[in-house]
Amino acid sequence: MLPSRVTIVEVGPRDGLQNEAQPIPTGDKLAFIERLADAGLRFIEATSFVSPKRIPQLADAAEVAAKLPSRAGVTYSALVPNAKGLERAIEAKIPRIAVFTAASETFTQKNIGMSIEQSLDGFREVVAAARARGMTARGYVSTCFVCPYEGEVAPDRVRDVAASLLALGVDEVSLGDTIGAAAPRDVERVIERVAASVPREKIALHFHDTYGTALANVHAGLQLGIGTFDSSAGGLGGCPYAPGASGNLATEDLVYFLDRMGIWCGVDLRQIASASVAIEKVLGRSLPSKQLQRIKSTRA
Ligand code: COA
Ligand code: ZN
Repeated sequence: MLPSRVTIVEVGPRDGLQNEAQPIPTGDKLAFIERLADAGLRFIEATSFVSPKRIPQLADAAEVAAKLPSRAGVTYSALVPNAKGLERAIEAKIPRIAVFTAASETFTQKNIGMSIEQSLDGFREVVAAARARGMTARGYVSTCFVCPYEGEVAPDRVRDVAASLLALGVDEVSLGDTIGAAAPRDVERVIERVAASVPREKIALHFHDTYGTALANVHAGLQLGIGTFDSSAGGLGGCPYAPGASGNLATEDLVYFLDRMGIWCGVDLRQIASASVAIEKVLGRSLPSKQLQRIKSTRA
């Protein structure tokens, strides 16, 4: 039994653009986000209020947030690592924050310079303060399957971190395959374990397609009752602190798959592809999405 509808969380403007080597003009980011919203995406992660020294690509977060196209039913979110990030998010009137940690100590240390425990302690106050202002919060757990530094990650670790995030007030935990190494068997193992502590409707899955297994993993997630998936237009992405990680699962490829499986997601494939074509022009390179390349070749 597969769900009849799925929610897509578009992370291209953040998880995707944070990884581009060249600076992207703020206006181009905003035009990209506008096209994504017009394609029917209802949850868009627009930027990050992290240290601009660590992620210079998103140093224009305040400007992006201030000019986000206002669309009924669209919720924009931004990454927030600490109290300073929350302060910036509040000032920018972002309604939803995303806090982030990992299931591997080494990755957490490299990514945010603290232990998992320290990160959770910090997020407790950040999420409480956000919710007190009427904001909502999602939590990311990176390296839920394989860590680029430590190798295999124990599903019990993922469960513990996911449950801790939920306990401190996030309404959804996104389980990330940061380096894109998982296969369906791994997804089953991790979801079965996490679902013992976290209701399935609060679990999202975040796949990267490094090894070409992302859609197979989505299928496994659907069969396990998961109804929310993160993806990025064109398959933009990677992680600056995860060597070897390639792009996210492409939104186009996910939308095609869901459409063909008869699962509603409310997103228009061709409009996403148009957003990707425009950002390809800015980047000066082709993006990896199979559907994007197919649509471009039929247009040409
Ligand atoms: N926004 C802007 N500036 C920030 C900030 C934030 N959220 N948090 C810290 N800073 C600034 C501090 O003001 C300080 O600036 P200064 O050197 O001019 O005084 C500097 O960054 C160092 O602050 P510190 O508290 O010592 O933080 P840190 O250097 O240990 O960095 C994080 C901690 C979490 C802020 C940083 O590691 C980070 O932003 N990581 C994000 C990584 C990321 O986004 N990865 C990809 C997503 S998975
Ligand atoms: Zn990611």
